[in-house]
Amino acid sequence: MQKLYYFGMAIKYNGNTKTFYLSGKSFAYVFGVNQFGYLQNYHFGKPVDVADDLSYMFVPVERGLAASIPDSAGRHNGLDTMPLEYPFFGGSDMRHGAFLSVSDTGLRQEDLRYKSHKITKDKPSIKGLPSLRRGGQTLIITLASKAVEVKLFYTVYEDCNTIARRTVIKNIGYKNLKLERVASLSLDLPNMNYDMVSLWGKHCGERHIERAPLRKGIQSVYSLRGASSPHFNPFLALCDPNADERQGNVIGISYIYGGNFLMSCECDFVGGTRIYAGFPDFDFGYNIHKGESFETPETALVFSDTGFGGMSRSYHDLYRGYLINPNFASNPRPIVINNWEATYFDFDDDKLCKIVDAAAPLGIDTFVLDDGWFGKRNSDTSGLGDWYVNKNKLHNGLTTIINRCKDKGMKFGLWFEPEMISEDSDLFRTHPEWRMQVPNAKPSPSRSQYVLNLSRQDVVDYLKQTLGDMLRTHDISYVKWDYNRHITDVHCTLLPPEKQQEILHRYMLGFYELVEYLTTTFPHVLFEGCSSGGGRFDPSMLPYFPQHWTSDNSDAWARTFIQYGTSLCYPLSSMAGHVSVCPNHQTGRNTPLESRGIMASLCAFGYELDISQMSDHERAIVKTQIEVYRRDISPLILNGDLYRLKSPFEGNLVNNSFAFLVVSKDKQKALLAYMQGTSECSPAPKTLKLDGLNPRQKYKLSRVHFDPATKNRKPLGGFPSAYTDSFDTIALSGSTLMSCGVPLPSFGWDFGAVMYLVEQV
Ligand code: DGJ
Repeated sequence: MQKLYYFGMAIKYNGNTKTFYLSGKSFAYVFGVNQFGYLQNYHFGKPVDVADDLSYMFVPVERGLAASIPDSAGRHNGLDTMPLEYPFFGGSDMRHGAFLSVSDTGLRQEDLRYKSHKITKDKPSIKGLPSLRRGGQTLIITLASKAVEVKLFYTVYEDCNTIARRTVIKNIGYKNLKLERVASLSLDLPNMNYDMVSLWGKHCGERHIERAPLRKGIQSVYSLRGASSPHFNPFLALCDPNADERQGNVIGISYIYGGNFLMSCECDFVGGTRIYAGFPDFDFGYNIHKGESFETPETALVFSDTGFGGMSRSYHDLYRGYLINPNFASNPRPIVINNWEATYFDFDDDKLCKIVDAAAPLGIDTFVLDDGWFGKRNSDTSGLGDWYVNKNKLHNGLTTIINRCKDKGMKFGLWFEPEMISEDSDLFRTHPEWRMQVPNAKPSPSRSQYVLNLSRQDVVDYLKQTLGDMLRTHDISYVKWDYNRHITDVHCTLLPPEKQQEILHRYMLGFYELVEYLTTTFPHVLFEGCSSGGGRFDPSMLPYFPQHWTSDNSDAWARTFIQYGTSLCYPLSSMAGHVSVCPNHQTGRNTPLESRGIMASLCAFGYELDISQMSDHERAIVKTQIEVYRRDISPLILNGDLYRLKSPFEGNLVNNSFAFLVVSKDKQKALLAYMQGTSECSPAPKTLKLDGLNPRQKYKLSRVHFDPATKNRKPLGGFPSAYTDSFDTIALSGSTLMSCGVPLPSFGWDFGAVMYLVEQV
């Protein structure tokens, strides 16, 4: 009789064939223990019948030049092309493995074979690292060589079509084991018929989409900067070549870590693909003594058979439901006014109070005081580290501005850049040894600042104390946590030579300890992440920072690219967006205030300009933006399903646009935001097919008129343009709106944008 053990819905084990079946709403992940004791992957994709033995999927072939192991039938099997679950260095697998170590005795090859497994309802947390909160069941498999044990963790989040994977390495036999390459996740796919999609970027241009077919060899994204960085996000997707927003198979891989990483696809000579997500093998080394363990970060692996749209909605549900701090995940966020672009370093109580006075009647609820309030900070050359108020600027400390906020019914937020130090600071004069620095060498400045060495416990403890004191003694409801340079001059005098390659990971552990302490000690304070904009926008920040300043580039048109790319993996509520002045301070571009409001309101919303200088007409627009955001937009941004209807990456200079549709979970309400690039004479009629609605339900679309003046605005020269208010009052069924679409306005000016509320009637 067949032995089938069912341990609930998500994870099943067939003891006859030694096969594990992991499944969610619309995927199956199947692997088993083969006759050699290695874990072999059979399938990752659409659901399969758990009664089927999938080991037939691998056909052994003898290959020239390859080393091999004979099987029971006398055939020669190379590990070289076998799809393996956690491949290691050595043996006959010549690809880059998931694991490479060196023991104190000089041994480099650990023959990791299956030892045991267990299935549990619990999800053990990772020591010192952020991870997804408890989801479904967890499968823990132990692989072992004579001296090393590797535990592979698989937690299934059925509703989100996700498997969270991570690894724990234990040294059970050597005096010391140095880890040189460790994956959280390794996945071998049987072919390379995929496009690889990644998010590359730069300061002021984060998370742009790059898509290219896989080719033989290795292609990767990575960071060696000490932070996840704006240059490559720790995210990858592999998709069918014809996959788009609505259809096709897509595999997403999101690495929940904010430090150095490597994510790669290695396509071998027979066309198989090996995915690696983990620590880079360049300048990484971690030592574990006998009996000690090392835990890797977690990786969220998502499968979608409904294209990129399906993948993103799974990530959004996963991160909102299991990663973002639940105190904030689905609660309305403050609508802020930030003084950075209004004043930069040049402010006093008077200027700040004027901003508060002008903001309060418009409905803004939180004033955020940015850089420049502390130490002797009048420019970016000094003061970092001195987290006490600059009384030359703010004579009464923070009391005047906090009281003014309170008088006006507003809350107060404050900027910090805790991980940094200026040479010209009291902190540096007292503790020069706390700076990250190689002994007897001049470290490299960036924005005139240096990094504090958070791999040191005394530095972490000092920051807990100093920031804690500020938060204890002031009425602060919001912290903007900035991080404006990458880490160089990596050295720590407290660590012996053989541990110097551990510093950047130890730095991250120190950072997580610090933010864990602060966010749990001050649970009412909303911490917003920032790193010269979106330079450290990765999943590991979300448990502490429910939202992140998306980019220093606040230009509405530039934001269409940044927000579109970011939304591939991250929920809209995790992005912060502010309306700023025109000409825009980063691009010099002029965009209508209405358009700036529409783009920013697809995020956690706010303003970043001198609102006291605005005209009455502009203030009226701002007031409407805030009312509509609070009432109609915010609930959808926090909890809705995103459908990307138009990608700005697909257009050209004269024909380009962006559209997002956000639909409530019950499909009763939606929000359609559309932005046009440059304007065009005699435009062709444009329609946009909606998505995600209930096909049998009737909906009414109403255009939100933020600016009464543009309602009937004629384009220059009197050329006609299309107006689409005519269908405001018509009720149309979801099926019609999804099959025929809605007509779009063609603005007779650049960067026009429009927003519609779609409501069930
Ligand atoms: C970079 C941030 O992204 C800006 O918003 C601002 O806070 C500056 N740092 C302040 O130095």
